[in-house]
Amino acid sequence: MSQLGQLAEQIRGCTLCRLSKGRTLAVPGEGPENARIMFVGEGPGFHEDQQGRPFVGAAGQFLQQLLASINLTRQDVYITNVVKCRPPNNRDPQPDELSTCRPYLDQQIALIQPQMIVTLGRFSMQLAFTGVSISQVHGIPKKVGDIVYLPIFHPAAALHQVRFKAAIEQDILKIRGFWPSYRVLSQLSHRMTKSAHNSSACSNLGGRVSKGKLRIIPLGGLGEIGRNMMVVEYDDSLIVVDAGLMFPNNDMLGIDIVIPDLTYILQRAERLQAVLITHVMRTM
Ligand code: URA
Repeated sequence: MSQLGQLAEQIRGCTLCRLSKGRTLAVPGEGPENARIMFVGEGPGFHEDQQGRPFVGAAGQFLQQLLASINLTRQDVYITNVVKCRPPNNRDPQPDELSTCRPYLDQQIALIQPQMIVTLGRFSMQLAFTGVSISQVHGIPKKVGDIVYLPIFHPAAALHQVRFKAAIEQDILKIRGFWPSYRVLSQLSHRMTKSAHNSSACSNLGGRVSKGKLRIIPLGGLGEIGRNMMVVEYDDSLIVVDAGLMFPNNDMLGIDIVIPDLTYILQRAERLQAVLITHVMRTM
């Protein structure tokens, strides 16, 4: 069992604070062990306590919609909470409960090594922000060490008040902006598409691109590496982009096919014009 799995087992058996007495199931969290983005909520509610899984109730459904708005699914991100057991009647977690549970979250962060942590609500926001209210800082990222923290309102708030819903929907879009490669890819695609209609734009790409069809092809392959790589193909030119995207959906803007290995590049190596490495990946 992985270290993260062992930690989850430890959490399921934890009796360190009073919340363990009232729980049905502890909720360690779930998602890929090498997720680039972690979402950290407050604590399990009724449904989470019953199922032992985070964000499976109404707030979870909204979270899923938010993820879909940036082409992500639950399976792309790690989702957890600051306290792993349900506070009675969904009351706020108390300071001693937060501090007793905190080492579990710290260990999860250390093992997953996410690039970004999206904090949901005012409790998890305290991972990176102190002395400010969530109304002041929501949607404003802050880098602490190697991790970008993005505080947003809790999805449950949106279920009660429309103005929170609009703010959350706006704030979540910022996740895309922090992936420099996401921008590079969309700019490239925009330029190449324009070049099909405007020959002077072709010279921007070294004059090698003729009018033709632009294809964006995400490649799979060797674990993390394959999960991030894209081929941008325009007629006879291939550009490999280490895109820094989660494995995109087939129906994402402009995607023609998703190929689950690297043969596409290997078979067309002579057409390769450039390799853009847009971010540093951590080794597996
Ligand atoms: N609210 C949270 O903060 N966490 C959950 O897991 C569910 C609802």
